[in-house]
Amino acid sequence: MSPEARTGPSEGRAALIAAVASLTILGLTFGVSALMRGAGIGAGPTPIASRPAEPTSPADGPSAVDIAAGKTHFAEQCSSCHGDAGAGGYAPNLHKSPLDLARITAIIQKGVPGKMPAFASKLSPAAVSQTAAYVDSLRGH
Ligand code: HEC
Repeated sequence: MSPEARTGPSEGRAALIAAVASLTILGLTFGVSALMRGAGIGAGPTPIASRPAEPTSPADGPSAVDIAAGKTHFAEQCSSCHGDAGAGGYAPNLHKSPLDLARITAIIQKGVPGKMPAFASKLSPAAVSQTAAYVDSLRGH
């Protein structure tokens, strides 16, 4: 056997061990600093704290007032078919509707051909969204 053949593999193993060791140290360093950042200990930026507060203003979604107005529209325009408070009658129980707010809004505007009238000409756009918000609020109840 030549000397190269004897030293070659062990040098290779040493280099591999060194590489693994430095990778481990790197990993530990970054892992610890990431943990510290996550816990807010490090000097780095804390994205969670700097983010603006979650929007809670009613302008971002239907307010209780809108839903109450929608309930009035519903009683006047919809309950004859859908029952009081949408509990069902001639037309389906809306408490169990799988539709999302956008689909509910579209159905109120356009109706269901041959089954439900369109309300785009009977209710103002605001009244349509209030009624949709009310119907949406019924789900899970
Ligand atoms: C003339 C009776 C009638 C009136 C009035 C009526 N609907 Fe309907 N509506 C129906 C019928 C019937 C269906 C079922 C259509 C079908 O089989 O796809 C329906 C379906 C719906 C659906 C879809 C339910 C689902 O899960 O598929 C929504 C939402 C809905 N109506 C909301 C309203 C709202 C809100 C109003 C008042 C603005 C209203 N409807 C007025 C008869 C009516």
